[in-house]
Amino acid sequence: MQLDLFVADDLLVQTVSGLTTEAFSHGNVCPQGERLALEMRYAALLEETDVFNRKLVSYQGNKGELVHGWIRYKEGFSAQLVATLIQQFGILPGDTILEPFAGSATTLLAAKSLGIDAVGIEILPVCHLAWQAKSHVFNYDIAELRRLQSLLVATEPGSTAGQFPHITITEGAFSTETEHDLMFYTAWCENLTVSALTKTLCRLVLASILEEISYTRKDGQYLRWDHRSSKVQTRNQIRISQGKTPIKEVDKGALPSVKTALMDALDIVIADIAKLQQVTFRESHQELIKGNTLRVLPTLASDQFAGVITSPPYCNRYDYTRTYALEIAYLGAGQEIHDLRQGLLSCTVENRPKLDALALYYASLGQSDRFTKILQTVQRNPVFIEINQALRARWDRQEINNRGVLGMVEQYFTELTFVFAELLRVCRRGAYVAFVNDNVRYGGEIIPVDLFTTNLAEDLGFEPVRVHVLPQRKGNSSQQMEKFGREALRKSITVWRKP
Ligand SMILES: C[S@@+](CC[C@H](N)C(=O)[O-])C[C@H]1O[C@@H](n2cnc3c(N)ncnc32)[C@H](O)[C@@H]1O
Repeated sequence: MQLDLFVADDLLVQTVSGLTTEAFSHGNVCPQGERLALEMRYAALLEETDVFNRKLVSYQGNKGELVHGWIRYKEGFSAQLVATLIQQFGILPGDTILEPFAGSATTLLAAKSLGIDAVGIEILPVCHLAWQAKSHVFNYDIAELRRLQSLLVATEPGSTAGQFPHITITEGAFSTETEHDLMFYTAWCENLTVSALTKTLCRLVLASILEEISYTRKDGQYLRWDHRSSKVQTRNQIRISQGKTPIKEVDKGALPSVKTALMDALDIVIADIAKLQQVTFRESHQELIKGNTLRVLPTLASDQFAGVITSPPYCNRYDYTRTYALEIAYLGAGQEIHDLRQGLLSCTVENRPKLDALALYYASLGQSDRFTKILQTVQRNPVFIEINQALRARWDRQEINNRGVLGMVEQYFTELTFVFAELLRVCRRGAYVAFVNDNVRYGGEIIPVDLFTTNLAEDLGFEPVRVHVLPQRKGNSSQQMEKFGREALRKSITVWRKP
């Protein structure tokens, strides 16, 4: 079947063979019939396209884009990707799109630049601040910002009583001098006689330099630590005293001073604002709802959105509350970090089941029957059953190193089914939904996230339209490679339509 829905003159879209996976269970250890059948069923939807390359589908695609880079959000996709999808979906000014996992607000900003209304939902405080600062790009007083810049040049760090609100996992992230200077400039910004808007921007700029000035580096699942940090030094002293070799950690090289990092970041932000304030954009309205998408979505009115463009957390154990721990603590939300972690769509081995709480929540909305129906959709799905059984078998064979993977996978797809069901309800007829996601592999079992989610969406009532497969496949974790060999995994954009 060849759909020509998205074939525009300027788009190179081609169907390429070899996109399907032929074996899902390494060594043929577990039943894989359901996954193979799924692959056959949706094979015609798979399309490799040069339009969506890996760069476009990652944060790197925002290089050179104004505003998007104000905070380094490596899990984001590019504004160009959003703009391309908006064009393909025929979404126009006056329409509203939804981004249920808003992150650094790429979709909201891209919509803003095209005069399209948008609603985002996001759980992390650092993303809330990013949106507060970015969304006002047209409202800043450039003269005030330039005064701030000059003041900063003339201000050297002095004494401060401010303390970084550390939590256990952030302890030792900065040298004593850096931490002191950071808190000095934090208080300095708060005490400036400038508008509330400029203060918000300052707060974002300060939050945006935390990684750069620290002994940490964001690395997917965790924060990696520089060998100079007290955490690493203490750990290695203990190892040496036990006769063990010290762990070799990251070397971030020379770190900038707080003032330098702050001035550099402020330069970029002010330059972006000055450029953008020269441009006139069509009036439109975007809003970010703070909270858990599983709880917010059921409260939104039905049949309103013309499209959804999103990427949820991937089913890859990456823990946003760990990688963004510095920012979360700095913004004063450190005490909430455990709740934030548990609120995430289950994507870490630490996520506990949310189903009981979700059942109560749907009951409180008078929607217990709907809850049961959605739950049955996923629990009765044969692919879901096959995947869960395969992972249990692999655990029994000691081929999965953390039992939490089993719960994570089961909960991930269960929770996503609730998201999909709500998206179907809140979208208007004819709306397109695009999800960026990665296929994953645990214990030698491939989980075809793209086709399985498409299958769940179809069971709920969406019409599968296309699965754009990125030209460069994703590798595997080194552990998986060692044990089960290399298996290229698809990274895809799944597109569905509400009939
Ligand atoms: C892959 S990122 C999205 C990135 C976004 N597309 C961008 O360009 O910045 C997934 C986001 O979902 C958020 N998230 C995870 N679970 C959530 C939940 N239950 N409710 C709301 N947001 C959630 C994470 O904090 C993260 O920012």
